[in-house]
Amino acid sequence: MCGIIGYVGKRPAGPIVVEGLKKLEYRGYDSAGVASVKDGKLFVRKDVGKIAEINQKMRLDGVPGETAIGHTRWATTGAVTKENAHPHADCNNEIAVVHNGIIENYQELRKGLEARGHGFRSQTDTEVIAHLLEEEVARGASLEKALVAAAVSLHGSYAILAVSTREPGKIVAVRFESPLVIGLAEDGTFASSDTLPFLEYTRKAVFLGEGEGAVLTGKGAEFFDVKTGRKLAKQPAEVKWMWDGAAKGGYPHFMLKEIMEQPEAVRTAVAQDDSAVQAFAKGLLDAKKVIFSACGTSRYAALVGRYAIEKLADKYCDVMISSEYSYFAGNADKDTLVVAISQSGETADVLDGVRKAKSKGARIFSIVNVVGSTLDRLSDERLYLNCGPEIGVAATKSFSAQLAVLYLVAFAMAGRASEGKKAILKLSGAVGEAIKRNDRKARELAKFLKGRENAYYLARGINFAIALEGALKMKEISYIHAEGMPAGELKHGTLALIEKGTPVVIINPTDYTHGETLSNGLETKARGAFLIGVSDENNEAYDEWVEVPKVEELFYPLACVVPLQLLAYHSAVERGKDPDKPRNLAKSVTVK
Ligand code: F6R
Repeated sequence: MCGIIGYVGKRPAGPIVVEGLKKLEYRGYDSAGVASVKDGKLFVRKDVGKIAEINQKMRLDGVPGETAIGHTRWATTGAVTKENAHPHADCNNEIAVVHNGIIENYQELRKGLEARGHGFRSQTDTEVIAHLLEEEVARGASLEKALVAAAVSLHGSYAILAVSTREPGKIVAVRFESPLVIGLAEDGTFASSDTLPFLEYTRKAVFLGEGEGAVLTGKGAEFFDVKTGRKLAKQPAEVKWMWDGAAKGGYPHFMLKEIMEQPEAVRTAVAQDDSAVQAFAKGLLDAKKVIFSACGTSRYAALVGRYAIEKLADKYCDVMISSEYSYFAGNADKDTLVVAISQSGETADVLDGVRKAKSKGARIFSIVNVVGSTLDRLSDERLYLNCGPEIGVAATKSFSAQLAVLYLVAFAMAGRASEGKKAILKLSGAVGEAIKRNDRKARELAKFLKGRENAYYLARGINFAIALEGALKMKEISYIHAEGMPAGELKHGTLALIEKGTPVVIINPTDYTHGETLSNGLETKARGAFLIGVSDENNEAYDEWVEVPKVEELFYPLACVVPLQLLAYHSAVERGKDPDKPRNLAKSVTVK
């Protein structure tokens, strides 16, 4: 993971880089730092903590000069310490680098560098890059030639930015399997992990391809092939993406704001171009094998989508966890369609499986939020979520948007696209209703859950994915251990854990799953469970009823997930945790 940004131009670079880092904080937030070049000197400031705190302590934004690079970290190699925070400098404090990715052969490289007399200050893989550049520059190479030469030795994934005191007013950028985009503004040039940090300055962006690099100066950028060093001609694209997510809009957390935005997210998600939806639906119908590949919450959306497609279009699709799909992707062929679902479009496990399947001739479709992301660019067809930037680490509105798009595709596969669109638009009202009815209730229940160690979430059929999602939301932000499972599976082991007062949440709308899920809930109650029923209808068995509006059977997952998001959110707040930035996690998981 990690986010990187660089700016070179006419303005003081420190404030621009620090503001940019705040917009990249979703990529990692355990430490951060900035390096700038001014009057032949390198200035590096970095520490452990969130960007705002570090900035207050050591004025990252006060680094001198108009050329700077910055980094926000999610630790992979090396503990969370000040020394391991980026940027990393060479032995002479002339070159500094920031890096997103993993250098797999860093131990071997480090041994060689140490044997040649280099002193290391950190335990990171990244520091080897600074020292490799130092050797090349000492041989007389320019910074870009040095990066081209160093890249030959690097195995793994990387987006790297480098500055040198010998070449002020220049940043060199290269990428391989980690995202990097160049922003071209009137009075300066940017390089960044995504477009968010520079959208207020420019909408002109050049997305670097695999193995491509750029030399940035205040006047613009020149592009090159990292393997050969040859110049590349690349045209900027106009970014249509809006950045209005910086403000919490009066809410205490982004997560709550994003939960509240869900009715709108559902409406914008179904406002798709009809021909794109038809092409997507046809691809699914024509393919012999359809495999949905996704991680975490996005995979749960795929599970709901699978039921909807089976029910409406009578087509069976497989759903795989992307990190496991990689082991099966070798089996893909021209009859295989991989539908990758990802909010960020940068999840390494998703991309890995997609690349492997593509190399075997499979077609790749995606349902993705970030326009221009790596997944977007790898896809033959794509549908965008159009739900705007999601800043809270826990996915909420992107999940609703994924469900809306999947429902729409399922209807289109059944030749009922416009009927589906109308029904989903109506559903957006029910989502608003589910929020309204449950905010207070979720707050009260959160008080009850505050002191609990464990919670279990049960459901069947199309709602099963919502049990998984409810539990995931709860554990990732409140740190209460929560397990979601198909209700029928409980008696095969987990029932042993139910004792007096154990919270059990059943997702139990009055659909085809109602009776059997209720029976499973009663089995837990007979063993002392505190039973919370999420349903459009109350039942005397429930110790607490979480009321959801009545909707068409197929749509209950969307109506039921909303109160569970609120329950997780309020539980986190009640326990004094920051729901926007849960420990150990990051928004975009760009490592395998
Ligand atoms: C959980 C959550 C994660 C993501 C997962 C996939 O709240 O947000 O489980 O869903 O990391 O991320 P994307 O959708 O960006 O591929």
